[in-house]
Amino acid sequence: MCGIVGIVGQSPAVPRMMESLKRLEYRGYDSAGVATLSKGSLERRRAPGKLDALAGLLANSPLEGNSGIGHTRWATHGEPTEANAHPHMTDKVAIVHNGIIENFKELKDELTASGAEFEGETDTEVVAKLLTRELETGAEPRAAFQTLLSRLQGAFALCVLVAGKENLMFGAREGSPLVVGLGDGENYLGSDAMALAGLSNRLIYLEEGDWVELTRDSVQVFDRANTPVERATSISQVATTMIDKGNHRHFMQKEIYEQPTVVAQTLGRYLDPNAGTIRLPDMPFDLKDVPKITLVACGTSFYAAQVARYWIEKIARVPVEVDIASEFRYRDPVYVDGGLAIFISQSGETMDTLAALRHAKDAGQHIASIVNVLGSTMARESDLVLPIHAGPEVGVASTKAFTCSLSVLASFAVQLAADKGEIDAATVANYVSELEHAPALMAKILSDDEKIESIARDIATARDILFVGRGIYFPIAMEGALKLKEISYIHAEGYAAGELKHGPIALIDENVPVIGIAPDGGLSEKTVSNLQEIMARKGKVVLLSDNKGSIADDMYAHFEMPPAGDLISPILYALPIQLLSYYAAVEKGTDVDMPRNLAKSVTVE
Ligand code: F6R
Repeated sequence: MCGIVGIVGQSPAVPRMMESLKRLEYRGYDSAGVATLSKGSLERRRAPGKLDALAGLLANSPLEGNSGIGHTRWATHGEPTEANAHPHMTDKVAIVHNGIIENFKELKDELTASGAEFEGETDTEVVAKLLTRELETGAEPRAAFQTLLSRLQGAFALCVLVAGKENLMFGAREGSPLVVGLGDGENYLGSDAMALAGLSNRLIYLEEGDWVELTRDSVQVFDRANTPVERATSISQVATTMIDKGNHRHFMQKEIYEQPTVVAQTLGRYLDPNAGTIRLPDMPFDLKDVPKITLVACGTSFYAAQVARYWIEKIARVPVEVDIASEFRYRDPVYVDGGLAIFISQSGETMDTLAALRHAKDAGQHIASIVNVLGSTMARESDLVLPIHAGPEVGVASTKAFTCSLSVLASFAVQLAADKGEIDAATVANYVSELEHAPALMAKILSDDEKIESIARDIATARDILFVGRGIYFPIAMEGALKLKEISYIHAEGYAAGELKHGPIALIDENVPVIGIAPDGGLSEKTVSNLQEIMARKGKVVLLSDNKGSIADDMYAHFEMPPAGDLISPILYALPIQLLSYYAAVEKGTDVDMPRNLAKSVTVE
């Protein structure tokens, strides 16, 4: 989603802002721009497309100035054109903005009635014009900014430069994150710690409703009531070096192949193999008293939640409710006293998940978050944080964050079961040992990637592909379909295998590949029967299993998985579906790391 950087500095701002925008590329964007203040005047450059286009523009027509603001835009109001790209500017102010101003139409009508003209369709241009009108009444910049904030409704993070004031910058946070970076004789603003990684590791996370006035040597934070407030400074753990792809062609590929390492690291934080126990952080509530668990997330994180439901219900016998964050709070959920609500989010900033978290918090639930970004808003607003320790995930399609979230959730389910008295110490130790073996099995699967690459090449021409599984492999099937559609643009759906005959089987013909996820044991025979029904209708079955069993001769292809225990199997089966999607996308020549229309961190509703 959109990214922000702002510098009130002592040396040229543009090269440093461009480096920050580069770090923000992973969030997904479709245009970019920068503005600086030089000799009192504001100037900007903006370009649709990737940062290279903006860099080319700046090479031909450089911008001077030590104070500046920069932005990567993921289009919401209006197409990704130059006119809609940020910064939005008048002769008095330049503004970059993340989020959505909900009352922009009414503000625009008001400004138009008083003679304002607009070049684009964005809500941000309205903000720039509104602030300009305040300044034109003779208001001081701070008072004008306060008036501006009092007029805006919606979710936003703003960063503002004022003409003639090189040593001044304003920022505001309402619903979209904004972070202050503290420098020596300089200060910064960024949409996340990553934006500021090359500039400062001393960060102040603004709280909802906060606004801030920065100069080179001062930072003053105010709350929604315009009262000066102190906010804690924290030290960022984000690496300052640019993350690179190493020997890989894409970040997604790198992130798929580093899973054995990162999952081992994650499990290293949650398991004590010598003692055969799970280590969870201290909790402000007792797990044994939790009567119900609510799991809420979006997209891939939602599928992790669905997998966790099977674990928690089966092993710990605690009732679990799972929902998509964008639906959860609007359906007036019924909470149980003392219930635990767990929010899963790689970024920790997804707007829908954050809103659901706040809903559950207001209802008095215990709040836990499973996040990859430790300083994220969700982490800061939770009673308990279970970090996934996946390291920065740059590819827009989530891979290692999924398997690391699953690793944390599996560890959590085992500990919950132990605390509830559902399993004894010996069973916990068995589960710990099973989890410990997951990284080695993951490495084995990845070493067999040529087979899956060739299957992916074969199926990349299909128009529709189905993924089917039963039980805990049903969410893995849905994750497979999501991964494939988002990066290869092939239409794909994930179904519970037993559900096919209630409708979707009508889609099957010789052109429709069906990926069947059916590890030996459990419900595999039932899934295999469903795959047989598909083959009887000429569907091309690709079986992912450690047992090709009776259908071997009729299958289109089989990818052999290593045998594994029930707890870790869903984690392992995530790998072939990621590889399948990745290689299908490569075959189709799509922009694997930044698929069209998608953003890494979705901070709008
Ligand atoms: C798909 C993907 C998305 C995210 C979703 C939630 O590959 O990455 O579906 O899982 O946007 O994001 P987080 O986990 O950051 O809340």
